[in-house]
Amino acid sequence: MATYRYSKSQELFRRAAGVIPGGIYGHFSPAPLVPPSAYPFYTARAEGSRFWDVDGNVFIDYMCAYGPMVMGYGAAHVEEAAAAQRRLGDSTTGAAPVMVELAELLVDIMPAADWAFFAKNGADVTNFAVMIARDATGRDKIVMIDGGYHGTAGWMQAPGHHGVSEEDQRHVVRIPWNDVPAFEAVLDQYPGDVAGFIATPYHIPTFADSQMPADGYWEKIQALCRRHNVVLIVDDIRHGFRLDMAGSSAYFGFTPDLTCLCKAMANGYPISALVGCEALKSTAARVFHTGSYWFQAVPMAAARANLVKMGEINAPQVMLTRGALLLDAMVNIARGYGYELKVTGVPSMPYVRITNDESLMLHQDWCAECTRRGAYFTPHHNWFISAAHTDADIQRTLEIVDEAFKAVRAKYGSAFQS
Ligand SMILES: Cc1ncc(COP(=O)(O)O)c(C=O)c1O
Repeated sequence: MATYRYSKSQELFRRAAGVIPGGIYGHFSPAPLVPPSAYPFYTARAEGSRFWDVDGNVFIDYMCAYGPMVMGYGAAHVEEAAAAQRRLGDSTTGAAPVMVELAELLVDIMPAADWAFFAKNGADVTNFAVMIARDATGRDKIVMIDGGYHGTAGWMQAPGHHGVSEEDQRHVVRIPWNDVPAFEAVLDQYPGDVAGFIATPYHIPTFADSQMPADGYWEKIQALCRRHNVVLIVDDIRHGFRLDMAGSSAYFGFTPDLTCLCKAMANGYPISALVGCEALKSTAARVFHTGSYWFQAVPMAAARANLVKMGEINAPQVMLTRGALLLDAMVNIARGYGYELKVTGVPSMPYVRITNDESLMLHQDWCAECTRRGAYFTPHHNWFISAAHTDADIQRTLEIVDEAFKAVRAKYGSAFQS
């Protein structure tokens, strides 16, 4: 099987480095998430579960644009709804009726939603959620999970990151995941000053295994929040609609006060949402938060059509089942070559790691070998499965996985084998 080359990607990257800070910034940046020589940087086009890079290589995409692609690139139900709305208007003076329809839909499908508010990016709504928590309680402190990611504003980033001041972090308290006593200790340490608790439905650190909630974790966190009048915020931006159409809190059986949604809502159209409980509706109405494009109607029409379709086919279940099929087979193939492939998180957004080499170099190499053959896997971030990944995609991926293990086995010999 010939492996891919990326000369046009690399040439574009060289040009980009001259005019764009870092060439490519953020999570699309090659370092530190992928070894640059093994990955394409620029996409020429995309369709269904696949994308084609500027060198003409085709990839079965297991990063799904880092989450937004959920029903396949260019999915007809989304594109038709978007095109119909575009003919009527997109960014206009005055909101479009579809905004009300989308809010009604979210209130309909999500038990934790009595109202909905729309923005563009995930961080727009995690920030709004925190402002609402502070205004509703008259308190300052926000409790979050060590290693949790909620966006790039100063309070969300880890202390010490470039451009983050001590003042940004002054009211943020970080505790370990799954540590209820640590939350109790914070409530004791700052009596009457904790405004909100924010966390993802399960923990998804980069460069580390995903961690599910321990038995009773969310129940206990919810009870503590209610007892101490702390606003419970779930950041469902990455997990949302990949576990359950009713929200990931429904999957885990608890009821947050505020839920942040984004990536899978509109199959790639730019929209995020904050949904919340009745008690916080008037606070949400008085906290000023808006943006130049937050009323764009095309992404709202795309989101509405997409969520309806996802509900019709129970897309989260489709993705969970397909993901499990793929991952179980991959684990078996790995075992045949003497490697252990550890899968954490749910099968629709798994974190996968070869455990034989703790430095993660072997794992990084293996992901690169898969990518060079057409199954796009990144080594240190969770992957995403979409409802557009077909049986044929899975079959082809398993052939690639086998070839890639053969390649790393040839390279490393019996080193690292169990
Ligand atoms: C869990 C989580 N929260 C918040 C964000 C921030 O979203 P955005 O990059 O759209 O601002 C992300 C983005 O990856 C995320 O995964």
